[in-house]
Amino acid sequence: MARVFIISNRVATPQAGLHAGGLEVVLKATLKNYPCVWLGWSGEIKAHPKTRTMHQKGNSYIVSDLTEEDFDEYYNGFANRVLWPILHYRLDLAEFSRRDLSGFLRVNEHFADELAKVLKPDDVVWVHDYHLIPLAKALRERNLHNRIGFFLHIPMPPPEIITAMPNHEHVIPSLCHYDLVGFQTDNDAANFARYLANELGMPSHISRRLGTGDRVMRIGTFPVGVETRGFARLARRAIKAELVRKVMNSVPGALMIGVDRLDYSKGITLRLEAYERFLAANPAWHGKITYLQITPKSRSQIKEYAEMADTVNAMAGRINGTYSDASWSPMRYVNRPYSRTALSGLYRGARVALVTPLRDGMNLVAKEYVAAQDAADPGVLILSRFAGAAAEFKEGALLVNPYDPDAVAAAIARAMAMPQAERKSRHAALYAALLRNDVSEWGNKFLSALMGTKEFHLKGEDVASRKSFEMTSRPH
Ligand code: G6P
Repeated sequence: MARVFIISNRVATPQAGLHAGGLEVVLKATLKNYPCVWLGWSGEIKAHPKTRTMHQKGNSYIVSDLTEEDFDEYYNGFANRVLWPILHYRLDLAEFSRRDLSGFLRVNEHFADELAKVLKPDDVVWVHDYHLIPLAKALRERNLHNRIGFFLHIPMPPPEIITAMPNHEHVIPSLCHYDLVGFQTDNDAANFARYLANELGMPSHISRRLGTGDRVMRIGTFPVGVETRGFARLARRAIKAELVRKVMNSVPGALMIGVDRLDYSKGITLRLEAYERFLAANPAWHGKITYLQITPKSRSQIKEYAEMADTVNAMAGRINGTYSDASWSPMRYVNRPYSRTALSGLYRGARVALVTPLRDGMNLVAKEYVAAQDAADPGVLILSRFAGAAAEFKEGALLVNPYDPDAVAAAIARAMAMPQAERKSRHAALYAALLRNDVSEWGNKFLSALMGTKEFHLKGEDVASRKSFEMTSRPH
């Protein structure tokens, strides 16, 4: 039986239940519906790396350790010090080195070798995110002609930015070895199409099939969603959980929430500046608002991340030092991570969510916040116009420019004072947008497009008897 191979840097293995970012959640339906093999990094660094295979509920997990050198060059180096900042429009933070690029390509070659050992001709391969852009090329070089798709979870900037990346011509064009390249928004897809047109002279219309030699590469937009109804149910239960009740009981007045990995793309320092301005301009709200910023630490070995941790700490301290009194502190800044359940309850309890990334592929915090609300008395979403989610949330969210702290401060004041009727109508529009694009269909949509079939088949079906499941036949 043909399988779906999911390839990503992080793998949520059954034992470790490793955090794989939002990936575990968005792939849940795919892992349930299709026989899958999930391959990637074990999350461990070893002098003598090994590859292990595990099985659970009809799926397999193949994970490889990285050496210290791999981790430095591939993960900390090219993926997170070059691709991450550049794809988030931060040329100023990119630190290119040839050594990191060769480490990046080497680890991709390693994953291709591991895949080549187990891949059968009718298996479908679905590669996720920027760490693995060159993987299809490495697989093609090993004479593997499977259907291979790629989905970029983060933004794709305009070619004027990508081309500033040294050696971009050795990295970005390798996306042409995929059969389907998926993006979060039309804007990302159009940026990529423009790169292909400018740099490789390929047709730039994004809905057109792009011929590359004997293959056809297609570009598509597949905005990631959330499990809308499931998350709403979780939040309804979680609001009564002890931890959430404790938080809610300890907050005088309204709760405002922000949840982000500690990452410069999330705009946390500008957000704190906005909150500071809100407090300065609105003394009437003192004692009546508490801003809870939950920010698990991330990629701490990278200089910018470590520096940012210090800056945010100092700002949170300054805000509390300036405005607290004996019975109230304007903010709580927390670095530990919380479970999805606890977050869902806190979202439901929060009158306002502040989601103000400077650039974000989608931002599922914004979507989960909306899903978690009580439709009869919902909170207000303040959302950066530069988050992918803004494309679907134009109606309903208070869209802001995160670079303008005065505008964000004004949005906080507006959200806090918003009458219930307006909150309800805005939330209804947002919730409808969530339902239009529930994540349960996301994997299906991508795989169907990759297969060029209307529907991809579910686990346990008699696929052999169904012609449309001929994964080896390739439409050109
Ligand atoms: C983003 C990326 C993911 C990544 C996650 C966590 O969401 O799109 O690919 O896994 O951040 O980052 P980390 O470096 O801890 O894997």
